[in-house]
Amino acid sequence: MKNSEKLAIEGGKPVRTKPFPHVYPGAAVYGAEEIKEALDVIKAQSPFRFYGKAVPGKTDAFEKLFAEKTGTKYALGVSSGTSALKVALAAIGVGPGDEVIIPAATFIASAGAVVMARAVPVLCEVDESLNMDPKDIERRITPRTKAIMPVHLMGVAANMKEIMKVARKHKLLVIEDCAQASGCSFGGKMVGSFGDIAAFSLQHNKLITSGEGGVVTTNSKKLFERAIRAHDHGQVRSTHAAFVDASDEFSFLAENYRMSEICGSLALAQLRKRDAIVNAQIKFKKELKVKLAALKSDVFTFRKATDIKGDISVACFLTFKTAEMTKKFMAAMGKEGVCFSQLYGGKGVHGWSQLREKKTVTSEGCPFKCPLYKGKPDYSIGSMPKTEDLLSRSTMIQITPDWTMKEVDDVVTATRKVLSWLNA
Ligand SMILES: Cc1ncc(COP(=O)(O)O)c(C=O)c1O
Repeated sequence: MKNSEKLAIEGGKPVRTKPFPHVYPGAAVYGAEEIKEALDVIKAQSPFRFYGKAVPGKTDAFEKLFAEKTGTKYALGVSSGTSALKVALAAIGVGPGDEVIIPAATFIASAGAVVMARAVPVLCEVDESLNMDPKDIERRITPRTKAIMPVHLMGVAANMKEIMKVARKHKLLVIEDCAQASGCSFGGKMVGSFGDIAAFSLQHNKLITSGEGGVVTTNSKKLFERAIRAHDHGQVRSTHAAFVDASDEFSFLAENYRMSEICGSLALAQLRKRDAIVNAQIKFKKELKVKLAALKSDVFTFRKATDIKGDISVACFLTFKTAEMTKKFMAAMGKEGVCFSQLYGGKGVHGWSQLREKKTVTSEGCPFKCPLYKGKPDYSIGSMPKTEDLLSRSTMIQITPDWTMKEVDDVVTATRKVLSWLNA
């Protein structure tokens, strides 16, 4: 065996010593446009979106463009993806005694937002797409179910056609968690436009970012009005009064999840770049998959995309035959200088102890022990066998717009080397 082919894990020369680009797609293309938009706000001395010396209207413009690009009537800028979820849940009226079905493969915020709405998350298995398995939803429905929350995990859309069918059949509301899927589509329609309401994140490692930030989208005038109120102490200010009924009759006590004008300005510049970011990533992922497929390995499969055309290509997932093989592959690839990782450590959302052990902010244990709640959710390890198995066998490499074909080739070269060792 030539020295170049000896595995780095066994003392050979690594394929690559230069680190891969950081996994912050939106931030990777920060430049003159973001500087200009933010400077406009600073020069106007108006960092608050609703009033100031000369508010430049960046957040208004961002909302307008975001709604246009999502194909919804309305979009509301908020302070984070988590606040977008909380605002959306409040808008559709989720509260004590209710259950919301969420996929077992997601970030803890999906579950946390439901609990903070004083409702209870119920887990549903994912399928080989790593998204909510529409066939498993009906098993999870109880008389307490109020809504279904599909999550478009790592830029790949959940099967919204089937999910909407189940939801409509059982008269359930749908809240899409699009935190990881800005720009993603299903059957030519943008995510965030299928359900009753949707939530996006603009946090730092999302496709586009303003550091923190979020967006709520909906086609319903009433839900938009309730979302506006839920994000701003129950009121509707003049900026939004043109779109919805601002009368005091519908006010309620609420929180502050407003987007700042600085955040809106950065988000606006980023949104204008979204298609370019997605197109760059699509190009790299396509090439990577073609080259990895040419290795003709039977030890891994690619993540199944329900609609491959709508994938924003933030990551390339490989699912191996066993969890042990996945770990060996990652360890050897890491030594080759090519970092594969497991989403959330290869565990479901119940891998987080705060959910598994129902650890709540105050000791009386609401909503799980709320007298209005009659269910008994199971978050134990082993309760979601299919999801646990798939996640433990899956690993991914994240793709960013500042990749070049060199990154693609290095992944392929290292994979070829490591696979021959795995197969030996
Ligand atoms: C699926 C999912 N939902 C919600 C959120 C929450 O978004 P944020 O971090 O902006 O609050 C995230 C963030 O990573 C997420 O991945």
